[in-house]
Amino acid sequence: MPPQFNTRPAHLPLGERQNSRFYGQHIVSVKQFSRLDIEHIFTIAEEMRIMVERVGTFDLLKGKVLANLFYEPSTRTSSSFTAAMERLGGSVIPISEVKYSSVSKGESLPDTIRTLQSYADVIVLRHHEKGAAEIAAKYARKPVINAGDGPGEHPTQALLDLFTIREELGRIDGLTVTMLGDLKYGRTVHSLAKLLALFNVTVNYVSPDILRMPAELVDELDGRGLSQSQFSALEAVLPKTDVLYVTRVQKERFDDLALYESVKGAFVITPETLKIAKQKMIVMHPLPRVGEISMDVDDDPRAAYFRQMEYGMYVRMALLAMVLGKA
Ligand code: ASP
Ligand code: CP
Repeated sequence: MPPQFNTRPAHLPLGERQNSRFYGQHIVSVKQFSRLDIEHIFTIAEEMRIMVERVGTFDLLKGKVLANLFYEPSTRTSSSFTAAMERLGGSVIPISEVKYSSVSKGESLPDTIRTLQSYADVIVLRHHEKGAAEIAAKYARKPVINAGDGPGEHPTQALLDLFTIREELGRIDGLTVTMLGDLKYGRTVHSLAKLLALFNVTVNYVSPDILRMPAELVDELDGRGLSQSQFSALEAVLPKTDVLYVTRVQKERFDDLALYESVKGAFVITPETLKIAKQKMIVMHPLPRVGEISMDVDDDPRAAYFRQMEYGMYVRMALLAMVLGKA
């Protein structure tokens, strides 16, 4: 599928690899990626991993500046983009608390983007509204990378999730992936399910009734040939699962907190839960966890969620190098 957001800037600096895949492009949705693109990103992420292990930091993006613009809280995405940019020799403008920026004076998203692109070469944006990254991309001459738009998408997370699966299990085709928890508001599962539709996988959705995967997304993925089934109990599918992808109930998306309280503890993974799981499978979580996986699971070799965070930095290094024409 051709990339949807091919808005290459008109004033490209000389000396960059203009034929580099994704050069100057926004990364707004996983729908932009083909299987070939994913292979390419993963090859570069592998190279980044080797370089970090060998030398720690190197100068591929020396002189480049990233603006990290976060309207919602973040630990991993914000700090791994910062680490990725700094390990590549670039620098970062951090705006992690928009309340201390002119956003709190009422500045609009387009004007904030126009401002930051005057100073930076690439903008990473997390926002509470679905579609915000797409709006930002319309106003930006520099690449905008979607770091989560409300309950919409989290494309770089889905790429790192897929990279984790491939690194940990050696393949993606043929696997059974079970997504558990808040499938309604969880943007990471929305993006991951769309990416998985490029592969030959079986996907199970397990959630409380009120937190099911949005019907329009299930229909869309049906149309793309993804094998999907919905369940309300994990036991039915856990023995056949290769990847158990656990999510947090997204409290911040609920208008009715009593409703949140009624579902927040619906699923908790403990060592007991995993007794019926395969020996060779992995448990993933985009994190933060707030009780969905008990800490007793952390020492189980199948618990991949902390390794998953580290893979994220390599994938983000690869993406930054690609959109800035250096990969
Ligand atoms: N950190 C992920 C996100 O921002 C998952 C979560 O917050 O539950 O979407
Ligand atoms: N996985 C993830 O997006 O984590 P943060 O919300 O901490 O960035």
